[in-house]
Amino acid sequence: MSKKIILDVDTGSDDAVAIMAAILSPDIQLEAICSVVGNKDLDKTTENTLRVVELMGADVPVYRGCRTPFAKWLSSDHIVPDRRECKAKDGDKVIMIHEDYLDIPAASIKEQEIRAVEFYVKYLREASEPVTIVAVGPLTNVAAALLVDETIVDKIEEIVIMGGGYNITNTTPSAEFNIWQDPEAAQRVIHCGAKVTIVPLDATHAACITLDDCKRFREIGTVSGNFAAELCEQRIFVHNAAQPLDVPDAAAVHDALCIAYLIDPTVLKDVRHAHVDIGFRDYSEGQTIVDCRYYTEDKNCYYAFDGDRFKFADILCDLFARDLKRR
Ligand code: BDR
Ligand code: CA
Repeated sequence: MSKKIILDVDTGSDDAVAIMAAILSPDIQLEAICSVVGNKDLDKTTENTLRVVELMGADVPVYRGCRTPFAKWLSSDHIVPDRRECKAKDGDKVIMIHEDYLDIPAASIKEQEIRAVEFYVKYLREASEPVTIVAVGPLTNVAAALLVDETIVDKIEEIVIMGGGYNITNTTPSAEFNIWQDPEAAQRVIHCGAKVTIVPLDATHAACITLDDCKRFREIGTVSGNFAAELCEQRIFVHNAAQPLDVPDAAAVHDALCIAYLIDPTVLKDVRHAHVDIGFRDYSEGQTIVDCRYYTEDKNCYYAFDGDRFKFADILCDLFARDLKRR
């Protein structure tokens, strides 16, 4: 039986791959997609999300989420998304890890009238069976919904979060981007009482996608395979210049790994049940503090320290091959 999920995104190059993977998986029933400010401002992440849904010809409702993080945007040193981008130069051309707009046709489909937080509360209150939330952007929408009605947690089977890093960070020396963007929201969500699985940079960098994998995606000959190859190559170019991985010519495609985990949980390795908290202040702002001491009580998260890159690439290939749209 397929798993009902709600996907929360800040689309984004790797979010786009995750959306395509979720739409194509027979193991997943994608109930809705919610956008949130993160990689780009809310208008762009919403438009990009609609673009991918339309490209895939999918009938999935898109809900516009929160425009700002919980508390951070009130501080004077809050950096707006467009000013802290990871990028690399190709001659005179600047290649971003996330372009403002995905390079596919502008969306003609529209978002839903109600907003994402309202949707979460209404949907979960009325749900007759539990649903899995896969949050691959900042956790603002999910935390806001839990603040409005904390009892909705009873309808959540699992929350899968792309975020955090124990041995690897990408935004400050102590923080990964999704958690750093809204630390208060992240802390609220990981302590909500639902089963929480964290897919951090430790796992997404291990389960990286290489140029050879991109070749395989393209050879499949489908719209999704081709677009995923383009997005991953863009990410590899920037990773090579800005944050090279141990594997040569490779990039983390973080968000899509969460979808792969739903299809085959063994794509995550060294998953430890641990107590996790989020840092809020100074050097620890947005840090995922993972207590790996074996005797620790109050374990609130499953935290993946590793990932299987060969399995991940095979899962993506299988999904892109299911796409009926030929390029
Ligand atoms: C996360 O931040 C975003 O840039 C990506 O889409 C991913 O969700 C990685 O740190
Ligand atoms: Ca993302």
